Amino acid sequence: MTSHAHVKGILQWHIDAGVDETVGETPVNRFELVDAPVRVPATSSPGQSNTAKRSSPPPTRPGDAPAGPSGEEAVKSAYELAEKASDTDELRAALEQFDGCALQKTATNLVFFNGDPKAKLMFVGEAPGAQEDRQGEPFVGPSGALLDKMLASIGIERSEVLVSNTVFWRPPGNRTPTPQETAVCMPFMERLIELVDPDVLVTLGGPASKALLGETQGVGRLRGRWFTYETARMSHPIDATAMFHPAYLLRTPSQKRAAWSDLLGIQDKLSG
Ligand code: URA
Repeated sequence: MTSHAHVKGILQWHIDAGVDETVGETPVNRFELVDAPVRVPATSSPGQSNTAKRSSPPPTRPGDAPAGPSGEEAVKSAYELAEKASDTDELRAALEQFDGCALQKTATNLVFFNGDPKAKLMFVGEAPGAQEDRQGEPFVGPSGALLDKMLASIGIERSEVLVSNTVFWRPPGNRTPTPQETAVCMPFMERLIELVDPDVLVTLGGPASKALLGETQGVGRLRGRWFTYETARMSHPIDATAMFHPAYLLRTPSQKRAAWSDLLGIQDKLSG
């Protein structure tokens, strides 16, 4: 093998393993970084009436970017910042100030939400991908294009809904967010739902469904069913349901039939 081919092979190996962003000029030995174990405080948040199953995240692993303040402090500070916001602009400003999520170290942009802050229909996906990270907007890549078509099929334009994710920075290599990353973003997501107060909340894919509906089953078992979502600050529960993630539907077109049936259920609920 020529040395050029050898170097190319090494680079390809890294890309295949999910290392698709360079983040620093000098190497960091993450095995030398000591992280304190992390617990989500049981009493620091309003909680969801139906599902209060916010999981305690495990200690950060060697190889994870260091979380800045300890995980417990980061969640507490996230609740303190999020609770003060009285509209979605203030909430975005609070999130811009927040420095407690490890994903901020590797992401290019904050990806919070787009769409109508007064939407009747709100979607929450898993995490921003590469294109979302570059543009600072959720669901602008191939998954977003399919989401737009799905909405159009029930007569709804993308600008009429609000779209966000369980974490607001792209996980490196598009890996699933860790429980800790989800936990530190959750106070902002809870406040976002409180402020938007949609008629219907839809979680897209397994991670978002587990995080927000507090269920442990896979999305294949949750879709087509209705739940309620509520925090202590909300005056009434919100109807919530789960759907397959558009990225999964792109890979598994045979499930589009199920997604169509779910969309009709959502349309029904909105008109009811
Ligand atoms: N997938 C998601 O879950 N969210 C995005 O914003 C893009 C792709």
